[in-house]
Amino acid sequence: MKILVLKSSGNKNGSSTILAREFIRGAQEKGHLITEYDLCGKDIRPCIGCNACEMSGPCIQKDDFELELKGMLLDTDMIVFVMPVYYYNWPAQLKTVVDRFYSFTMELGSMHKKTVMLAVAWDNTEEVFKITKTYYETLCKYKPFKDCGAIYGGGCGTPEMTRRTTYPQKAYELGRSI
Ligand SMILES: Cc1cc2nc3c(=O)[nH]c(=O)nc-3n(C[C@H](O)[C@H](O)[C@H](O)COP(=O)(O)O)c2cc1C
Repeated sequence: MKILVLKSSGNKNGSSTILAREFIRGAQEKGHLITEYDLCGKDIRPCIGCNACEMSGPCIQKDDFELELKGMLLDTDMIVFVMPVYYYNWPAQLKTVVDRFYSFTMELGSMHKKTVMLAVAWDNTEEVFKITKTYYETLCKYKPFKDCGAIYGGGCGTPEMTRRTTYPQKAYELGRSI
């Protein structure tokens, strides 16, 4: 299976990347084909709601989403959302990508892509992932995507903290389970 790993943190060796690496290690052991896509540094602009695409493309913004990422999203079997929680929610880098799904809403929705969520946060409370989790589950229901597993790594504020938790191991096992 083709798996596209969408990384949204600017920290190349940060906590969310640790979970991504472990997930990838597990998935590769099972023979899956991984493509990593780092959103940091990409020219991906917010949807401006012009509706020129009429939800079935193309988008008038000829940026890295339209010219690069869109094709990768269409071509993959699974999308892995990798993120740090920012103010109790998805980071803007990744939310911007989801908003751009608008220009190929039907096409993407009809493909029933598999998805995985790998999220980290500094806090280790139930509340910290509430919105992130609800949004992910609602998005899966809407598209529809087939959720194949999610990790919400609380207490993962720094790479050192993250390595002391069980979440890297859980991410590896999730990768192996795919
Ligand atoms: C802009 C910003 C907002 C954040 N908001 C939260 C938050 O609401 N709750 C929390 O527990 N951690 C929050 N954090 C901490 C990060 O989620 C945490 O440090 C995470 O490990 C960073 O992942 P990374 O190393 O992959 O970038 C925030 C960090 C930043 C930079």
